[in-house]
Amino acid sequence: MKRLGTFLIALTMTASMVSCSSKSSSSTNEQDKEFYGRGRTVGIALPAQNLERWNRDGAFLKEQFEAVGCKVDLKYADNDKDKQIEDVQSMIDEGVQLLLIAAVDKDNLSHTLNNAKEAGIPVVAYDRLIMNTDAVTYYVSFDNYMVGTIQGQYIEEKLKFNETDNTYNIEFVGGDELDNNARFFFNGAYDYLSSYINSGKLNIVSGKNTFEQVATEEWSTDNARNNMKQVLADNYSDGKTLDAVICANDSTALGVTEAVQSNYSGSNHPLIVGQDGDVENLKNIVDGSQDMTVFKNVNDEAKVTLEICKLILSNETPSVSLLENLHVNVKYDTSSYNNGVKYIQSYLLAPYAVDKDNLQSLVDTGIYKWDSNNKYLEIAK
Ligand code: BGC
Repeated sequence: MKRLGTFLIALTMTASMVSCSSKSSSSTNEQDKEFYGRGRTVGIALPAQNLERWNRDGAFLKEQFEAVGCKVDLKYADNDKDKQIEDVQSMIDEGVQLLLIAAVDKDNLSHTLNNAKEAGIPVVAYDRLIMNTDAVTYYVSFDNYMVGTIQGQYIEEKLKFNETDNTYNIEFVGGDELDNNARFFFNGAYDYLSSYINSGKLNIVSGKNTFEQVATEEWSTDNARNNMKQVLADNYSDGKTLDAVICANDSTALGVTEAVQSNYSGSNHPLIVGQDGDVENLKNIVDGSQDMTVFKNVNDEAKVTLEICKLILSNETPSVSLLENLHVNVKYDTSSYNNGVKYIQSYLLAPYAVDKDNLQSLVDTGIYKWDSNNKYLEIAK
């Protein structure tokens, strides 16, 4: 709680909210076309195509850049950190004007990015911060710590911590250690719940209370399922109740849900929360086997990114006021993300909780639609 408080104060002091108005006039579109019509190429390196969200990011980013006349070289690295180095180096060699990277491995790109810097190619870290390099100038993401805070709040509210004397059992499932975001998600949730953990109201029966102990390699569903099966076998096979599992994202939540369905003998349904709003998880939310997902509107993330990239390519310095024409709430933050070399200027969007009661809010984003039976959600296009 103390860390959360410090974080929020720091954010308040250094962050400015951008509440933006419309910028959809045709003259602006014309200006965009004129600007990008000079044959600029943007290299976009994303981690993996097997995860739903990166497909959405890739498709929307490509569409946005191409809509303003830019060429796009979009590459996915199959979660392979060496392949991503090759992807980025090939973009540098082909002479892209800007690099946009969501790193597979936060630590291993610094050498390659030195080459980008020498070639004068600006680098924007997309969604995941890249560590130990001064080549990165801007970072566009969501408030990753807040993702975890929202998960902790949801558990507190649904289990009614403040209304009963009951104690509860909880487990955490983290993301990939190579991803800088993963610690933020874990810390956000853990810090929010730490006073309950310390007082004994909340028990982590497995004893796995550090990020390293709960990390899930490659964010994989299989690994999450296997890890959870082990946790259940070691700690809950005597019929002990598991009340909640905080999963760092929806691919891990899927594995946890499967493990709970096949290997948990308790009579209750543990609360399971994830992140991303993946379609399969949204189906589980409708069916009741997952409870909540923290949703991040990656189309908005792409819009903000596009605007920042345009300003960089025009030799302008992105600032809060220069982003004012977007329809997106974004926080400018200079004190939360230090990459080991410097604090990176960060533009952080706002995540929010989605459960069975506000699924329509996802349809309202335009990204999802109801299926023909009006029961489940699917991607709108
Ligand atoms: C992203 C999450 C995603 C995870 C796995 C994280 O960096 O912020 O949205 O679920 O990577 O790809």
